[in-house]
Amino acid sequence: MSKLSFRNLIDANQINENDLNLLFALTNQYRNTNHRQIIKNGDCYGYLLATLFFEPSTRTRFSFETAMQRLAGQIITLEQGMSSSIKKGETLEDMGRIISNYADIIVMRHPQIGSVANFAKYATIPVINAGDGSNQHPTQALVDSYTIFTEKNRLDNLKIGLVGDLKYGRANHSLLSILSKYSSNQFTLISHPSLALNDSQKLELTNYGCKIYETADLDPAMADLDVLIVSRIQQERFSDPEEYAKVKDSYHINKKTVSKGKPELIILHGLPRVNEIDPEIDNMPQAKYFKQAEYGLYVRMALLSLMIK
Ligand code: CP
Repeated sequence: MSKLSFRNLIDANQINENDLNLLFALTNQYRNTNHRQIIKNGDCYGYLLATLFFEPSTRTRFSFETAMQRLAGQIITLEQGMSSSIKKGETLEDMGRIISNYADIIVMRHPQIGSVANFAKYATIPVINAGDGSNQHPTQALVDSYTIFTEKNRLDNLKIGLVGDLKYGRANHSLLSILSKYSSNQFTLISHPSLALNDSQKLELTNYGCKIYETADLDPAMADLDVLIVSRIQQERFSDPEEYAKVKDSYHINKKTVSKGKPELIILHGLPRVNEIDPEIDNMPQAKYFKQAEYGLYVRMALLSLMIK
């Protein structure tokens, strides 16, 4: 029986402080142990992961698949959802029932909001949401939280800026769900007005006692921040290319932008980036996004290991 409070991971609101403590402790253990020794330990030996991706992915799919193999487990994968019998009209509900016969745990990404939650109702094995449309991406939020905790040694009493696509950026939604439950966090929401966080999510933050500030101007907000979370404008969520063109270059973080922040500021991005972070800052000490992507492997190893048992 898993020590985590959830059987399926669909929404970051399911994750409590005890879950994070368990996950981070095991993540540290995997991060500090030689890969070959981890394979020998075989924490997922004899278990099989199915990855079902109906949207593109590099980090999430590869890190989950690498994680399972590093733990001596095996994988079956559906890279392009439409190469499955969904193309012939099979429902996601039936697919959930069928894949449950073959695997022990499922990681799924799908463009429709709520699709992974619905799929999980019919699956008889644990399901992890790897992104459902613009709604949630809870495992990215775990990676982001772990990176903040590792770099700042705390998840409370932080001044956190989120810049970019707060409307469609599902990882932002999940991260806010986790960080809002820690005391004295303050959020500066920086976006083009058309890509602002929706009102119900803002209300959720204030209900948890968080202070929030909203602005479209990044530079004046920089001086106060401990953490800056950057997100890509989610082109794939726009039905009108002209609307995307209006906002796609809203923010470009370069050395000049970073110079306006504190030296101990950390900059995260779930990646992929398009044009929002200039490669000229990649080697600055503030830039943590490639480290963050590496941590994604260890966090997902810990998650699989704890969820599968
Ligand atoms: N951060 C993230 O979800 O990346 P991928 O889309 O490459 O999985």
